[in-house]
Amino acid sequence: MYSEKVMDHFTNPRNVGEIEDASGVGTVGNAKCGDIMRMYLDIDENGIIRDCKFKTFGCGAAVATSSMATELVMGKTIQEALQVTNKAVMEALDGLPPVKVHCSLLAEEAIHAALWDYAEKHGIKIEGLEKPKSDIHEGEEDGAEEY
Ligand code: FES
Repeated sequence: MYSEKVMDHFTNPRNVGEIEDASGVGTVGNAKCGDIMRMYLDIDENGIIRDCKFKTFGCGAAVATSSMATELVMGKTIQEALQVTNKAVMEALDGLPPVKVHCSLLAEEAIHAALWDYAEKHGIKIEGLEKPKSDIHEGEEDGAEEY
């Protein structure tokens, strides 16, 4: 049911933890399953993400997608990090079962929420970033049937 990569990131998640004095912190939850995700970003003066950590009170797929998402955004610019969508994360994990697609949305939205927090703290606007939802609802994922 789960790919080897999903199992790997679930059993051995990367970048778990907190960043003290993070440049941006984002927390999102899914009211339906009750799972919560928090993402910390450390962004340098050139707008490069030099560190990213996460904490989750979530299911295995949420752990695996957040772990992969942190690896994908590390070293990227803010604009590049915005391209790390839940689909990109799922592809990097060789797919997720359709019923678990919403879990990957938590990771995407948590990154967006952390970037939003960073932008607010610095009084800047990030092109293409919309105010994140704090609650991810079932059925918002696109293309669930593709996976
Ligand atoms: Fe809630 Fe996976 S079941 S995030």
